[in-house]
Amino acid sequence: MIGIDKIGFATPKYKLDLTDLALARQTDPEKYHSGLLLDEISIAPISEDIVTLAASSAKDILTKDDRESIDMVIVATETGIDQSKAAAVYVHHLLDIQPFARSFEVKEACYSATAALHYAKLHIEKSPESKVLVIASDIAKYGIASAGEPTQGAGSVAMLITSHPRILAFNDDNVAQTRDIMDFWRPNYSDVPMVDGLYSTKQYLDSLKTTWKEYQKRTGLTLEDFAAFCFHIPFPKLALKGLNKIMDRSLTPEKKEALSLAFDDSIRYSKQVGNIYTGSLYLSFLSLLETSSTLKAGDRIGFFSYGSGAVCEIFSGQLVDGYKDMLLANRQENLDKRTALSVEEYETLFYEKPQFDDKGDAAFSSYDKNAFYLSGMTNHQRQYKNTEEDA
Ligand code: HMG
Repeated sequence: MIGIDKIGFATPKYKLDLTDLALARQTDPEKYHSGLLLDEISIAPISEDIVTLAASSAKDILTKDDRESIDMVIVATETGIDQSKAAAVYVHHLLDIQPFARSFEVKEACYSATAALHYAKLHIEKSPESKVLVIASDIAKYGIASAGEPTQGAGSVAMLITSHPRILAFNDDNVAQTRDIMDFWRPNYSDVPMVDGLYSTKQYLDSLKTTWKEYQKRTGLTLEDFAAFCFHIPFPKLALKGLNKIMDRSLTPEKKEALSLAFDDSIRYSKQVGNIYTGSLYLSFLSLLETSSTLKAGDRIGFFSYGSGAVCEIFSGQLVDGYKDMLLANRQENLDKRTALSVEEYETLFYEKPQFDDKGDAAFSSYDKNAFYLSGMTNHQRQYKNTEEDA
């Protein structure tokens, strides 16, 4: 049995209320609240990047024994901070993981964490004593007043993969699909993505429909076999359309009702955080685990991963006995503690960039911090700090 033993999450300490954003953009707030099913989005200041989010999401779930047993750190991201050095190398250092480990970064839009999980599983099949840390960390920025602006977000989900998982055991049923399309992409010279919005939503739904059909053909399973289905969530309304697409007429009304209720639980955190790209599917899983009152050990959970470009995958796992003991009770409290920004303050944070002197040094303003933060740059090298060591 191989699967998710622990799961952690971090998001920036700032948020933007989408009613405020809608009013500033002369838009009916209902378009965001019921049209996209979004209420708030997390906003990252300059002192937060994918490394600080990644390390902060993993810090509290790792014990000394984990740090000594992890022999692979994979950071999945599409908002990398360097064309050469992997974010995973910084994260390995910040988390004080034993030195004889592989650390690297993977990319394929919002899909890559799913590929990382599969690689972790293959590695542990060969080395059952190993533990692999898979972290999905991203900052989604679409641009001021763009159609995608209300669907921005930022956050990281860390998962510890082991051969004695206490949350979810993976099944051997993965079905992936690749199609070379231009629905969403970000060339190296652009800070924000280029998006064919409507086309991207059609591709998401068609990738789901065709992969689900192939998955059913290969496994013989139907939705009746699932207690819940988690989706990649660029914005919750699209995931809801996804659920409706795969709920066919043969389902009993009771099953439809149960899947819909589980879906509502799975979008609770995303509604307040926004799109966190490759971590988004796993934030949906975390939300389901921590807010559902009906799930139980043995339940089969389905996962639909989608990354623009595009690669998608459907797979499933079984909840492990005692999984509730591995969760956090105060997640909502932490989300509520984020500082609300005015639209003006959000726009200032959006455009803030390092102001380098001629030595390549830059000092950053001080912002509310997670466990790790970026204090500035020295000779073009990122300076990461541990908040506890400052205290
Ligand atoms: P838009 O064109 O501004 O919005 O942007 P719209 O006109 O399509 O309206 C959105 C919904 O609001 C519609 O609901 C409207 O009817 C409704 P629907 O008909 O679809 O159910 N609406 C209202 N509801 C209540 N009151 C009102 C009102 N007005 C309208 N007054 C779009 C939408 C998705 C294009 C935009 O947000 C966007 O470009 N987002 C970014 C791209 C995206 O998220 N694509 C999703 C699929 S691709 C993907 O998932 C991968 C991704 O995560 C990246 C990666 O892989 O790296 C994005």
